[in-house]
Amino acid sequence: MFKINDNYLKLPGSYLFSNIGKKVNAFTSANPDKKIIRLGIGDVTLPLAPKVIDTLHSAVDEMGSAASFKGYAPDLGYEFLRQAIATNDYKARGVEIALDEIFISDGAKSDSGNIGDIFAVDNKIAVCDPVYPVYVDTNVMAGRTGEYNVETERWSNVIYMPCTEATGFAPELPSQTPDIIYLCFPNNPTGATLNKAELQKWVDYALKVGAVIVYDAAYEAYISEEDVPHTIYECEGAKECSIEIRSFSKNAGFTGTRLGFTVIPKELKSGDTMLNSLWARRHGTKFNGAPYIIQKAGEAIYTEEGKAQTRQQVEYYMNNAKIIRDGLAAAGYSVSGGVNAPYIWLKTPDKMTSWEFFDYLLNEANVVGTPGSGFGPSGEGYFRLTAFGTYENTLEAMERIKAL
Ligand SMILES: Cc1ncc(COP(=O)(O)O)c(C=O)c1O
Repeated sequence: MFKINDNYLKLPGSYLFSNIGKKVNAFTSANPDKKIIRLGIGDVTLPLAPKVIDTLHSAVDEMGSAASFKGYAPDLGYEFLRQAIATNDYKARGVEIALDEIFISDGAKSDSGNIGDIFAVDNKIAVCDPVYPVYVDTNVMAGRTGEYNVETERWSNVIYMPCTEATGFAPELPSQTPDIIYLCFPNNPTGATLNKAELQKWVDYALKVGAVIVYDAAYEAYISEEDVPHTIYECEGAKECSIEIRSFSKNAGFTGTRLGFTVIPKELKSGDTMLNSLWARRHGTKFNGAPYIIQKAGEAIYTEEGKAQTRQQVEYYMNNAKIIRDGLAAAGYSVSGGVNAPYIWLKTPDKMTSWEFFDYLLNEANVVGTPGSGFGPSGEGYFRLTAFGTYENTLEAMERIKAL
């Protein structure tokens, strides 16, 4: 008789976005004349850049001709894309990454979820609270966590690192020693970042305790401040303790197109074993490559035209972020994020819970955001707005909030 992986049964339902959907639907049925503005989504809204579209068209044409048709992609991804990444994302920042240290994938969600495959089940993980839920849930599925406590909304055998106003929305070094540390900067949901010295502190800590850092840099393109590292490998010693995960979703609008990559330097070892070799084995066995046409489109964003066009998109969203930040501050809210990230994290007024504020904003301003408590217990009392809406809707939403 077969048995299931009953770790899946431990997972509590993920009600955040379905609850939001239900509340919004109920509101629109009761108020069909009201125009709702959605600033809750973490998905991009601008169309793909013209250079990406042109490249997609020509890559599709290549697939239609016997001379240029492509079947399975190489295990690690096409060299043209890995070369563009090594040159533009790393060499340009003074970091040498070899082509066989880059693994092309279908996105950062898959990679951050799958990376656990190469680690033993009895590793102890440390995560920020609030957190992008994939890091925790995939470790639950793997059996790396204990039991879920409904009261505390926390798993046993997981080290939580609260990121609140008191910590400047940055994690503090944990008192218990972790084996795998998940860090995501610029952060979803808080929009916070670590400067180079702060990130170096984490690298030094990981080296000292023998931990590995899984560094999710999906929002790297939104960094605007000088002192914020674009890659963890800007820190000394990071190659010996860090895996970096990147995405084309937020810098180039590939959320529906799907492309990302993971970097595992060969210096990163457990004893004599290179994690790079384990991931190469895993990738070659369980993944059959991102499509050629998508990898060509990814390469296109590293051309001069592609860079200029995608930069314009990021600037469009960051202008929205500024409108939200400034608007909320003018309305008397305590806000953070939105400077190096498309997320604005605000403190709910008058000690409202995150969900009370959600209802208030929906009913009074007809604006939809995301309750901070949905990302973890330390998100309670906070609320996330995103810069991924249109400029016009963002302006209007802020006018409505200011008028409350
Ligand atoms: C922190 C973080 N990592 C990864 C992802 C997913 O990226 P991708 O679209 O490349 O799977 C997201 C998406 O919202 C995210 O917020």
